[in-house]
Amino acid sequence: MRLSVVGCGYLGAVHAAAMASIGHDVVGIDVDERKIAALSKGEAPFFEPGLQEILTEGIASGRLSFTTDMAAAQGAKVHFVGVGTPQQAGGYAADLTYVDAAVDGLLPYLSEGDIVAGKSTVPVGTAARLAPRVAGRGATLVWNPEFLREGWAVQDTIDPDRLVAGVPTENGAPSAEGERTAQVLREVYHPSIDKGTPFIVTDYATAELVKVSANAFLATKISFINAIAEIAEVTGADVTTLADAIGHDARIGRRFLGAGIGFGGGCLPKDIRAFSARAEELGRGESVAFLREIDAINLRRRDRAVELTTEALGGSVFEKKVAVLGAAFKPHSDDIRDSPALDVAVRLHGLGARVTLTDPAAIENARRIHPQLTYEEDLDTTLRDADAVIVVTEWDEYRRNLSPEHAASLARGRVVVDGRNCLDPAAWRAAGWTYFGMGRP
Ligand code: UGA
Repeated sequence: MRLSVVGCGYLGAVHAAAMASIGHDVVGIDVDERKIAALSKGEAPFFEPGLQEILTEGIASGRLSFTTDMAAAQGAKVHFVGVGTPQQAGGYAADLTYVDAAVDGLLPYLSEGDIVAGKSTVPVGTAARLAPRVAGRGATLVWNPEFLREGWAVQDTIDPDRLVAGVPTENGAPSAEGERTAQVLREVYHPSIDKGTPFIVTDYATAELVKVSANAFLATKISFINAIAEIAEVTGADVTTLADAIGHDARIGRRFLGAGIGFGGGCLPKDIRAFSARAEELGRGESVAFLREIDAINLRRRDRAVELTTEALGGSVFEKKVAVLGAAFKPHSDDIRDSPALDVAVRLHGLGARVTLTDPAAIENARRIHPQLTYEEDLDTTLRDADAVIVVTEWDEYRRNLSPEHAASLARGRVVVDGRNCLDPAAWRAAGWTYFGMGRP
């Protein structure tokens, strides 16, 4: 099927390449000329495992192209909209400027019967607001939220846990047009539906809310365990053993119970804030008032990591060399948007520490935003003469491959702060280190 994808960021670029990899003819469109130039050459403009391969393959096959010209959308049957919905400057609500601009930009190029499929994460009510504009061109709007995780984006796009289609409804059920559009989306995604991926057809509001509630739930799970970590810290309990124990209950589950410096990135933080803002607008602010607490717990963990480092260094970080391992908001990503890792590094620098930061993928992005920090590609150089080591992104390079003996041969001090509870405390202690975890004795 001929498809267009408007917006070629983390979501759109992966979606475009993934759709080409399952056999569709895809044009990716973005206003950012640098990004389009890179993608057109088959170069991934950001770090995402597996993306490079499907980009190269798609372009070589002739099924995948990129352009800044919206007119290229003409002739596609389905137009995906995957532009960003960042937090508004000066508020909690989502900034929908890019979604509106993408839909309006598409309008002149839509033909009768086309489908515009929104993938961006939007406040509930957005699809209903945009649908008449699309209908004015004889096309139909569906909302088809995306659940991909950075670092696993290719796999999550080709083989998702579920697909959700919010379609036009009548008397609480999909209208005839809703059924038709759902069928077209089934054809788009047939390789994964054939493998058994659930395909849920619903109304606009439910589809929009599925996405924000999934992210709100994940954020809540992380802050829940981090709240328990705070209690563990004053009682001498170990939050990781506790998480293992409660995680054995299938109703709870161990995943996303990783206590540490908390969640960041371009999604969870801004999505819970946008959800709160939208609930307020709907007169139901109190229903999700707990999300403010989830946010507050999350941000407190960054303070705690700074506090632990200060404690580890005997009360002051001033003029101490701190080796910060990690800048990305999580491993397998070069994304530093709202990164707890980078935030902790910046705060330590603000307190007068001599911060040297390393990361396998995110140094370039971090340097652009925070040129005041010292960056080092090489892990050994980062560790050399450090008074303290702090791990803030759990890359395998630090978690698995860094031997505490080797680190001890390079660093000056013997204190390690494990901001992600990803190191083996016994192994580090055996190598002479004083180990500080998050919510661990
Ligand atoms: C998140 C969701 O997981 C995806 O399902 C969703 O599609 C995506 O947002 C989105 O809305 O686009 P992502 O932002 O890539 O995906 O990252 P996650 O894997 O969810 O991690 C988010 C943050 O939580 C990271 O900073 C991670 O370090 C942190 N985290 C995760 C923890 O602190 N503890 C955990 O146990 C798990």
